[in-house]
Amino acid sequence: MPQFNDQDLTAEVIRSFAATPNPRLKLIMEETVTALHDLVRRTNLTFEEWSQAIDFLTRTGQICTPLRQEFILLSDVLGVSMLVDAVNHREREGATQTTVLGPFYVGEHRPMPHGTDISKGIDGEPMFVQSRVTDLDGKPLAGAEIDVWHADDDGFYDSQKPEYDKQGPSLRARFVADADGRFSFRTILPCSYPIPSDGPVGALIAAANRHPMRPAHVHFLVKAEGYEPLITHVFLEGDEYLRSDAVFGVKDELIASISKHNEQALPDGQPVSGPWHLMRYEFQMKPGSGMVPQPLMAAE
Ligand code: BEZ
Ligand code: FE
Repeated sequence: MPQFNDQDLTAEVIRSFAATPNPRLKLIMEETVTALHDLVRRTNLTFEEWSQAIDFLTRTGQICTPLRQEFILLSDVLGVSMLVDAVNHREREGATQTTVLGPFYVGEHRPMPHGTDISKGIDGEPMFVQSRVTDLDGKPLAGAEIDVWHADDDGFYDSQKPEYDKQGPSLRARFVADADGRFSFRTILPCSYPIPSDGPVGALIAAANRHPMRPAHVHFLVKAEGYEPLITHVFLEGDEYLRSDAVFGVKDELIASISKHNEQALPDGQPVSGPWHLMRYEFQMKPGSGMVPQPLMAAE
């Protein structure tokens, strides 16, 4: 009957994965066991703490639904999402920086004509977004597909609202870049907002005296044949949470200065009343390929 002390147990568990046919799975399991066993030894983890950890993970799983992804949120607040992003995008070679996808890439991203107001029926200060997609040499990428999504003036995404089932998507859409790589749309100025904090991840953040806020941003997912999919945000300059994003997602190159205007027409000639804001940002795509995320709950 083998008996193991706290040191050679780790080696024995690692040996138990020796026949794993998939080499990546084998490596990842060996490293996971090593890291977890180290954690238990270094902290002298108590039975009570081990039980709390199991309970935390159980509740994290139980609160998940097709529209609520608490495990992504956990990965985000632990910085794991941004670390996966960092190790996979070490060399950008001048391409636009990447950041977290987040849990609100959801539902239908309907293709819409340039200039469409994606904020119809939603209160807020108007914002016009003018953008362009090019390769690393500035060549326009006609036909690139761009999914956009952002929170409303109260900091909520459409999928977080009770009326989502009946009303369908808002503040999200898909655009296709024109021959010059350009696209544009009308929306409202986003604001900073808290990540969902009514679940176990929110309780963890609160127990650590961390705030749950993310700085104001618009999400972009840009796809073009022959190029790495680009998952990113454009952040609004001046936001008070740019240096303390709850999910560590801000990069300086992704901060845009938004200009304020009083003209009574938007750049594409649409009439507008009262002050409005202009966001201009260009995306440079890196040649290659990669996993394209699908929106949660998207129809097959
Ligand atoms: C978001 O920006 O939508 C987001 C990202 C990570 C966690 C929560 C929200
Ligand atoms: Fe967001």
